[in-house]
Amino acid sequence: MRMVVWRWVWLFGAVVAAAAVGGASGGAVTYDGRSLIIDGQRKLIFSGSIHYPRSTPDMWPSLISKAKSGGLDAIDTYVFWNLHEPQPGQYDFSGRRDLVSFIKQVHSQGLYVCLRIGPFIEGEWSYGGLPFWLHDIPNVQFRSDNEPFKFYMQNFTTKIVNMLKSENLYASQGGPIIISQIENEYQNVEKAFGDRGPSYVRWAAAMAVGLNTSVPWVMCKQDDAPDPVINSCNGMMCGETFVGPNSPNKPAMWTEDWTHFYDNYGNTTKIRPAQDIAYHAALFIVNKNGSYINYYMYHGGTNFGRNASAFMITSYYDQAPLDEYGLIRQPKWGHLKELHAAVKLCSQALLYGTRTNFSLGPLQQAFVYNGGNGECAAFLVNKDAASDPDVQFQDRTYRLPRKSISILPDCKTVAFNTAKVSSQYSTRTMGAVVKLDSPEKWQEFDEVIPSFNDTSLRSDSLLEQMNTTKDVSDYLWYTTSYEQSEELRSVITVDSRGHVLRTFVNGEFLGSGHGTYRNQSFSLESGASLKSGVNNISLLSIMIGLPDSGAYMEKRASGLINVSIGDKDLTFYSWGYQVGLVGEKLQLYTEEGSSKAEWSKLNQSPQQLKWYKSKFDAPEGTDPVALNLGSMGKGTAWINGESIGRYWISFHQPNGLPSQIWYNIPRSFLKPTDNLLVLFEEEAGDPLGVSVDTVSITKVCGHVSGSNPPPVASYLKQRGRRPKVQLRCPPSKNISNILFASFGSPLGDCSRYAPGSCHSTKSSAVVERACLGRRKCSVPWSYRSFGGDPCPGVSTHLLIEAECQ
Ligand SMILES: *[C@@H]1O[C@H](CO)[C@@H](O)[C@H](O)[C@H]1NC(C)=O
Ligand SMILES: *[C@@H]1O[C@H](CO)[C@@H](O)[C@H](O)[C@H]1NC(C)=O
Ligand SMILES: *[C@@H]1O[C@H](CO)[C@@H](O)[C@H](O)[C@H]1NC(C)=O
Ligand SMILES: *[C@@H]1O[C@H](CO)[C@@H](O)[C@H](O)[C@H]1NC(C)=O
Ligand SMILES: *[C@@H]1O[C@H](CO)[C@@H](O)[C@H](O)[C@H]1NC(C)=O
Ligand SMILES: *[C@@H]1O[C@H](CO)[C@@H](O)[C@H](O)[C@H]1NC(C)=O
Ligand SMILES: *[C@@H]1O[C@H](CO)[C@@H](O)[C@H](O)[C@H]1NC(C)=O
Ligand SMILES: *[C@@H]1O[C@H](CO)[C@@H](O)[C@H](O)[C@H]1NC(C)=O
Ligand SMILES: *[C@@H]1O[C@H](CO)[C@@H](O)[C@H](O)[C@H]1NC(C)=O
Ligand SMILES: *[C@@H]1O[C@H](CO)[C@@H](O)[C@H](O)[C@H]1NC(C)=O
Ligand SMILES: *[C@@H]1O[C@H](CO)[C@@H](O)[C@H](O)[C@H]1NC(C)=O
Ligand SMILES: *[C@@H]1O[C@H](CO)[C@@H](O)[C@H](O)[C@H]1NC(C)=O
Repeated sequence: MRMVVWRWVWLFGAVVAAAAVGGASGGAVTYDGRSLIIDGQRKLIFSGSIHYPRSTPDMWPSLISKAKSGGLDAIDTYVFWNLHEPQPGQYDFSGRRDLVSFIKQVHSQGLYVCLRIGPFIEGEWSYGGLPFWLHDIPNVQFRSDNEPFKFYMQNFTTKIVNMLKSENLYASQGGPIIISQIENEYQNVEKAFGDRGPSYVRWAAAMAVGLNTSVPWVMCKQDDAPDPVINSCNGMMCGETFVGPNSPNKPAMWTEDWTHFYDNYGNTTKIRPAQDIAYHAALFIVNKNGSYINYYMYHGGTNFGRNASAFMITSYYDQAPLDEYGLIRQPKWGHLKELHAAVKLCSQALLYGTRTNFSLGPLQQAFVYNGGNGECAAFLVNKDAASDPDVQFQDRTYRLPRKSISILPDCKTVAFNTAKVSSQYSTRTMGAVVKLDSPEKWQEFDEVIPSFNDTSLRSDSLLEQMNTTKDVSDYLWYTTSYEQSEELRSVITVDSRGHVLRTFVNGEFLGSGHGTYRNQSFSLESGASLKSGVNNISLLSIMIGLPDSGAYMEKRASGLINVSIGDKDLTFYSWGYQVGLVGEKLQLYTEEGSSKAEWSKLNQSPQQLKWYKSKFDAPEGTDPVALNLGSMGKGTAWINGESIGRYWISFHQPNGLPSQIWYNIPRSFLKPTDNLLVLFEEEAGDPLGVSVDTVSITKVCGHVSGSNPPPVASYLKQRGRRPKVQLRCPPSKNISNILFASFGSPLGDCSRYAPGSCHSTKSSAVVERACLGRRKCSVPWSYRSFGGDPCPGVSTHLLIEAECQ
């Protein structure tokens, strides 16, 4: 069955490919049990996820080029259905949505594209990428064997595939797309759908294959992916956890190797070290015969506007090898680049050789690959997290650092060890350039608190929030009138299914509450002084993004479920609704909307629900720009009418710090002068603490010992094979100062160091001579250049930290 499909494709592909020019033009793409096969060649592919709408088109070329110099062969992206089909049959591929131009940019830089169409993508993206209008299709059941859902899913998938075919972007047409994905981690929810789950999987696979893209399809985390669709692994440890391809003829693919973990408000996760990523990637290659690894994310970027899903912070995978601003994050980027280079030296043996593996110790193992032309490559694995044993391999002794893999491209010399970081560390600094710290720089506008009589949408019950707002706004006012005969202190109790609630009585703020990422439901009790006569009860329910995962997402509910005052239940009172804010209707965040409104001078009394506006000139230069909102509470920020996302400073992590203080302002959102900054602040934040900052790498640091392998680039050379500290400042900056230099036994590492008991007195002089005034420098670990061994009998290290200016 598989052979028939791909053979037809191959013939067709070969003809078209011959006519195409430029880039990583694929030719026919097939696969076997070892790898993807492109134009007849097996391939070992390192790929990285970069999502086009999470940055701006002017950033794409440099992100892709940094990915390429990081040793990647391919860029992976989802396709964002809700951005492209805002209404059924109406399509939008403009600006940040320009999928074709993104793919062409990747192609022009010579990389492949892995296209994860989904079109359900999860991705910490609003509604998992599904357009909200699907919610209102009669009898729809998302992601199951359900005719209405299948109709729209097929319709969109076909639209995308046809569009890409007409642009000749599939590999068989000479384009860069070598693989596509249908659905996404479906196995997580499949059981919940009973019989409609497995039949949906079969339908989705057949539908995708029937689109004749002539490149293979994958289903990630889908052990029973129907032939010829490849099942693949997602996670942090696929070298251990992957159950394997479901046919010996399918390659082992890792579609999401998490370089970090997404952060939500109230909890940011632990940083995943570069060593751990490198270890598990190498383990996947040897232990699971892996030949494809995609880093999720390689560049995370920014959840602009309201695109983040529930409780996700605006910054996305800032800890990836390229940070939110597109700056190289070290040592992750550099260490993985070294890994890629070392593995690529073994490609021939890995892809075409025969594998043998044997034990080197209780928790140590050798994997040896012998190629037909005498190639030999070895991976020495030490799974022991607590010791660094010496092992014997082919008559030589190798010390294997704890929890590490040594890569020997010639079966003799270690080119790379996953635990030994030789690439530099770097320090990112935010510098305030424009301080908006005086009252004259701001104007304000009070958001209106509606009462029941101001509303026109009415119901005798508490409406579900998403069904009421249709996601045109995060905000929904629930209002009612409450009449009583005499003045009274009482308590208003509200139960909400999410996400945030602010309670007002007679225009006065009483209190607020919120759920969390783990439990979005909460209840809020606020003490209230009620007047005699009619009281206006106004409850502002706020969502922080739609859900992005789980079965039956179309049935998910948010907003209020019951309200009482004292022991009186108001749940079935007559309620009046207002969708969105007055300021949103007036478009206060645009130049035009803002100029029509009556703004007033900053009145420095703290108050809920206020709009603020200011103007600022763009910082000079090309460094990325960020808005420091550390003094604010919760809300949304706009620059020249573009929403740069929701902010929520007041919801602290367990360590007492906000989850995110700086908010990315892409340079392309800015004009040289007079940029309009508008904030909608829900709490009583202080705009006088806001500043416009630039983001730059200000310090670089390197640390090697005599046992670090030399840089992989020097592997093939006979000379110059020494460990080195290699430092490099960002473009247009030079090393201006050596903050620390020690050849000896410095304590600690680049994150925290101090002089040790032994130290070569020549350390500073040698390093300054090699580095000062230069953009990059290389200082070999060598007794000779530092005037001999400063500490005989002790392992000697070289640690240098330098300032870039
Ligand atoms: C997709 O649906 C739209 C209407 O919603 C229709 O105009 C269009 O022809 C359909 N496309 C396909 C490929 O079925
Ligand atoms: C795919 O190819 C098969 C024949 O190989 C053909 O029957 C089918 O119509 C094609 N489908 C599309 C969407 O082009
Ligand atoms: C916070 O994140 C950590 C992972 O870094 C996780 O173990 C923990 O369960 C999370 N806590 C909450 C409340 O979400
Ligand atoms: C060889 O590696 C496989 C995993 O790929 C493992 O299951 C097996 O136990 C290893 N064999 C030996 C002798 O170490
Ligand atoms: C990897 O390939 C070898 C043959 O080269 C085979 O013996 C082994 O079973 C495969 N391992 C996995 C996990 O597929
Ligand atoms: C989502 O992002 C796109 C492009 O990045 C933006 O144009 C759009 O306004 C955002 N959507 C929402 C609902 O904020
Ligand atoms: C609301 O309007 C009704 C009539 O439409 C009026 O009787 C009532 O007094 C108004 N309530 C308030 C609080 O103004
Ligand atoms: C959504 O609202 C409509 C009326 O506007 C109602 O008929 C429908 O039952 C509601 N659906 C849900 C899921 O609440
Ligand atoms: C309630 O709101 C109405 C406007 O709808 C206003 O006229 C009235 O004064 C308010 N009542 C109180 C007690 O604030
Ligand atoms: C979530 O919070 C609500 C309200 O605080 C509580 O009633 C419920 O038990 C919690 N649910 C879980 C799963 O913890
Ligand atoms: C809200 O309803 C739930 C059951 O749906 C009930 O347990 C709870 O006590 C009610 N809360 C209020 C404030 O009425
Ligand atoms: C950096 O050094 C180079 C020479 O190595 C010099 O041409 C350049 O002007 C310097 N740049 C800065 C910002 O100091």
